[in-house]
Amino acid sequence: MQVSYASRFDGISGSAIRDIFKLLTNPSIISFAGGNPASSALEPGRISQFAQEVLAENGVNILQYGQSEGYAPLRESAATFFRHNAVEARPDQVLPLAGSQQGLDLICKALLNPGDAMLVESPAFLGALQTFKLYQARLVPIEMDEGGAIVEDIERKIIAERPKLIYLIPTFQNPTGRTLALERRRRVAEIARMHGVTIIEDDPYCDLRYRGEALPAIKSFDKGDNVLYLNSFSKIISPGLRVAAVVCTDEEMMRKLVVGKQSTDVHSPNLNQAIIDRYLRSGLLSEHIELICASYAAQMSKMLEMLEGFPESVRFTRPDGGIFLWCELPEGFSATELLPEATRRGVAYIPGDHFYARPGAHHNTLRLNFSNASLENIEKGMLILKELLIEKGL
Ligand SMILES: Cc1ncc(COP(=O)(O)O)c(C=O)c1O
Repeated sequence: MQVSYASRFDGISGSAIRDIFKLLTNPSIISFAGGNPASSALEPGRISQFAQEVLAENGVNILQYGQSEGYAPLRESAATFFRHNAVEARPDQVLPLAGSQQGLDLICKALLNPGDAMLVESPAFLGALQTFKLYQARLVPIEMDEGGAIVEDIERKIIAERPKLIYLIPTFQNPTGRTLALERRRRVAEIARMHGVTIIEDDPYCDLRYRGEALPAIKSFDKGDNVLYLNSFSKIISPGLRVAAVVCTDEEMMRKLVVGKQSTDVHSPNLNQAIIDRYLRSGLLSEHIELICASYAAQMSKMLEMLEGFPESVRFTRPDGGIFLWCELPEGFSATELLPEATRRGVAYIPGDHFYARPGAHHNTLRLNFSNASLENIEKGMLILKELLIEKGL
């Protein structure tokens, strides 16, 4: 069929990553490629109990149409929950979403015209880059170091490029695992206020901390309603339920997000919102997070221990939490080209070049996920990778 597709899809392939995920349906491959929680972190029994309870108590309302603004009890319990990240919001400033991914989409829908500039960390979360490209944003990479995005570079580029949005993943960033330093959080909020730019603070990993002190969100330093704070229950409860929320303290912006959501999906499924609300009110979530953190911490240690055994020319991040490590091979090595051979030998990762707004120059990088592999498989998979790299001359 001859179809003339919308120009917003020009240059969007997504195919390389889809091909990698197709490979991963093969159960014999040890996958460090995804970003899934461990299967053992998911709790069908508890979730089914919560579902039965909320349906027994409030079934007719849950099965009826709900409000685009979200399930009222969840707006309240999520507002309370976000206080532990120093994010202070009233329930009417919290908009439940079908995953943070939807929040990214709605924010772009509200703010971006084709060609608008937007600052993104370099590298940044692939799913977000895809959304920004679909809204035809002009992506401007921000430099990073071990302390996260470099604020001087952000300010320089705000002045030079006049962006509408800055996209930051401040805590245990996807893909690098890096965390934006405390003073940078304060400064970036201040700079955004001075220049009238909106920050998207995407924070789905903040509760997966294995060492060190928790840092306040950028939103906690936001004096001019410039920060849209996204948090998700995907990584701490269940990605399949598709429940997240955005904190938006600007009333007009909130109205735009709600109208945008109405046109996308009317509202998020009431049952899923009610289940998450029940979990937040149960008092059981902090214990669950402690449990998953204990096992992810062990998985991260094992992966780091294995990386320590690689030749010194392989550089890698040492995060304090999250689910990803980021590796840089010496110049001349291509993680992109090595992937087919790695998967033939039984191990998969995501080549790092995909995480750049301007791909093509970072083939020596790769992202490794440790949350969804057993200690035994981490050891096995990392040995396969090491042998492969050594064979290729590392
Ligand atoms: C930084 C970041 N933002 C957003 C998402 C999407 O999460 P959700 O399941 O809430 O849509 C992910 C998922 O991996 C992520 O890593």
